[in-house]
Amino acid sequence: MEKQPLLNVKNLRTHFHTERGRVTAVDGISFQVDKGEILGVVGESGCGKSVMSQSIMRLFDEKYTAEYEGEIELSGQNMLDLPISQMQKIRGNDISMIFQDPLSSLNPVYTIGDQISESIMLHQNVTKKEAKEKAIDMLRLTGIPAPEKRVNEYPHQLSGGMQQRVMIAMALSCQPKLLIADEPTTALDVTIQSQILDLILELNEKLGMAVIFITHDLGVVSEICSRVMVMYLGQVVEETDVDSLFSKPLHPYTKGLMKSIPQLEGDRSQKLHVIEGTVPSLDNIPKGCRYADRCPFADELCKESAPELRTYDGDKKVRCWHFEKIAQHEEG
Ligand SMILES: Nc1ncnc2c1ncn2[C@@H]1O[C@H](COP(=O)(O)OP(=O)(O)O)[C@@H](O)[C@H]1O
Ligand SMILES: [Mg+2]
Repeated sequence: MEKQPLLNVKNLRTHFHTERGRVTAVDGISFQVDKGEILGVVGESGCGKSVMSQSIMRLFDEKYTAEYEGEIELSGQNMLDLPISQMQKIRGNDISMIFQDPLSSLNPVYTIGDQISESIMLHQNVTKKEAKEKAIDMLRLTGIPAPEKRVNEYPHQLSGGMQQRVMIAMALSCQPKLLIADEPTTALDVTIQSQILDLILELNEKLGMAVIFITHDLGVVSEICSRVMVMYLGQVVEETDVDSLFSKPLHPYTKGLMKSIPQLEGDRSQKLHVIEGTVPSLDNIPKGCRYADRCPFADELCKESAPELRTYDGDKKVRCWHFEKIAQHEEG
């Protein structure tokens, strides 16, 4: 199938005005998502994954809190040029988002049916009755048992897994072209997690919906994504296809993340490798490579000077002074 670009993010920067001054949480990110594609985004906590995804929807207040730079093109239209009223039509219509914590997005005083119907009526010209029927259909699609009963229940009457399904039903009720899923299964147990992943995959196949799937779980990435972007301290450090990510990670940070995947087979008592150190804070960004302090391969050059994101081997990208040398060293 020929690739058709859906989302094209160019040099996106998100600055926050804080008490301690201006910080840049997303610092020059560019990537593309094609129609029907599932892109994974990984990186430790605090690397800017959520800020990036909320920036795509322009969810931060632009008067007092945040400032965006760059371009976020959806089907060729730069969303950063649009008035916020226009953005509200895009949200939940062309692009939907699901978060880690479903309860924070559900309103406790309305039934789930009312909430899904409302989101349907906001975007589609249907009667209340039709919207409720659609809501039931969506709930059924997400695998909720007895949806015609569930539709009249309140969020607190549902388990965490069911709440997440309601969130997904809401997010998908308008058949978005793009779903941004920000660690949607992190809080769920393993069985529910895999059901939700299956559901997202199924909807991706059935509806051709593109997905940006944010996770710190590389196991999940291998299950559903075709391409992956690795983020570190607000920047992309590697972008590659999933097979290469697992067979030949290039950036030392990616290698570190790979080692921290829990092994399902074999000796589980073996201690998990965790990358030493922590992600630097935004008001103390290293002048050289942002990962240098934690990198086993770092030298003077890395500490002094920041590497660019370089294209490598066709369509891979990597931000490291020494990745070729490291790869040769490991092969030989
Ligand atoms: N509203 C905000 N104001 C200032 N800094 C923020 C705000 N939101 C997030 N940040 C900072 O942006 C960085 C990236 O956060 P986040 O995107 O939540 O990371 P991740 O989702 O990868 O765990 C963090 O250092 C966080 O403290
Ligand atoms: Mg996050």
